[in-house]
Amino acid sequence: MNAPKILVTAANGNQGRLLVPRLLAAGANVRAFVRTEASASALRSAGAVDIVTGDMADRELLGRAMHGIEKVYHVGPTAHPKEREMGFAAVDAARAASVGHFVFSSVLHAITTDLIQHEIKRDIEEHLLSSGLAFTILQPTNYMSPIKLRPAFELGVFRLSWALDRRQSLVDPADIAEVAAMALMDSERHAGATYELAAPGRHTAHELGAIISRVLARPIAVEEIDADTYLKAFFGDVGPDQFPHEARVLRAISARYGAHDFVGNSNVLAWLLGHPPTSFEQFVRRQYDAFRADSTTAAPITR
Ligand SMILES: NC(=O)c1ccc[n+]([C@@H]2O[C@H](COP(=O)([O-])OP(=O)(O)OC[C@H]3O[C@@H](n4cnc5c(N)ncnc54)[C@H](OP(=O)(O)O)[C@@H]3O)[C@@H](O)[C@H]2O)c1
Repeated sequence: MNAPKILVTAANGNQGRLLVPRLLAAGANVRAFVRTEASASALRSAGAVDIVTGDMADRELLGRAMHGIEKVYHVGPTAHPKEREMGFAAVDAARAASVGHFVFSSVLHAITTDLIQHEIKRDIEEHLLSSGLAFTILQPTNYMSPIKLRPAFELGVFRLSWALDRRQSLVDPADIAEVAAMALMDSERHAGATYELAAPGRHTAHELGAIISRVLARPIAVEEIDADTYLKAFFGDVGPDQFPHEARVLRAISARYGAHDFVGNSNVLAWLLGHPPTSFEQFVRRQYDAFRADSTTAAPITR
């Protein structure tokens, strides 16, 4: 069996921790790149053996991580101040190592320049297109997020940091991981493609709240919070001065999603998966089952 050597960055993140086991199960030889020993240890428990630990912004380390690698799945860590540098460095290191296929996890509507993390990904997409590497670009919409569901399960409040009547299309990170694994394991079929990934539906926060409420079989409140409050949900009791880039990213998200819908189309994802994408209701049911089975742990719930 052909066992391609694949480097996965942000490997213990929302996508990576679903993708790595999938690739291992498909027979790939995975090298995982993470920042901390804690994440390395979690991935070892999930069966990964080849792990690079350190800062992805370190070009030399990234260069060493590319040795012997045939394919790359690159994810920039959420709202990281060096996301652009990391993306450029990953492309350059892959090129220097003559990597055969670079799959980049970008974002739906990367052309939207008033969203900081979109503009960064737009720039990385351009750098990748200009690199001469064989590429596939995934453009997922906003995740169906276990972390955003937790307050709804625990406190009966669903909170979003943008206008509650704006519409969004969402996607299950497990569906992204399924597509990512497909692209990596069948480079010939997927090289040169850019895929927008969204599940069916264009939901307001009120509609999402009604779905959660139906699954929980009890009423829940839906609340808009400001970006700086959301920052605390990510980083603990911190202020915007301590995380200036992250605070700017979250404020831009609130402003953009307060003024505009963020909607996509599910055709491409359904075609790629060969089955219907996970709906928000299916996702909430799965997460709620996991929450009830393990309500004592504070760790994010994943499939
Ligand atoms: N959230 C959404 O709705 C959404 C939607 C579309 C696109 N995106 C994009 O998807 C990307 C995030 O994907 P994700 O959620 O899968 O990732 P994530 O959960 O933010 O990634 C966390 C992983 O990145 C690693 N990491 C963090 N800083 C690092 C560093 N300096 N050097 C090396 N590794 C580092 C972490 O390692 P440790 O655990 O060791 O710290 C961890 O394994 C972002 O670019 C985001 O803009 C997000």
